[in-house]
Amino acid sequence: MFTADRKAWGNDPHFLGWPAHLQRLHAGITEASARLIAGLQVALDEPEGSAQELMGLTGMNRLGHDLVAHAHGHHAFEDSNVLPVFLSRFPSLSVAVDLLENDHEFLGQALDQSAALFGALRGEGTNKIQIGKALEQATVLEKILHRHTYDEEDILIPAVLRAYG
Ligand SMILES: [Fe+2]
Ligand SMILES: [Fe+2]
Repeated sequence: MFTADRKAWGNDPHFLGWPAHLQRLHAGITEASARLIAGLQVALDEPEGSAQELMGLTGMNRLGHDLVAHAHGHHAFEDSNVLPVFLSRFPSLSVAVDLLENDHEFLGQALDQSAALFGALRGEGTNKIQIGKALEQATVLEKILHRHTYDEEDILIPAVLRAYG
């Protein structure tokens, strides 16, 4: 692996191509996770009944679903396009690419578990116990998504900057 010097990335003229795009996609996932957690926390502080109404008004009953769909699609595209191209360009980084593929598999399971819990927020008769479970899951999911996207940037971006710099 190449050294990841995050502070220097912004000064590299090649950063504004694909690396910045990857970071923007990851920032979108991070932002949605944080917004979901904050929104569910606010809803949980409301009494039963108005919690559900607030979730509908703020879109928190759909945001978890959208986040899961977006993250699934992002990882699927990386598995089918980004990582194979990267591996053919940087065969010496195969162990690191394996690590990212394993992460995607693990994340896929976590996303499926999340989909079930977030899906319960969309039906009639959602209660605060379900909102609490969704909040717990969203908090776990945020941590593992953040760790993965951070690791992924540290593996892919330095190699791309070095290759095209
Ligand atoms: Fe990924
Ligand atoms: Fe990614």
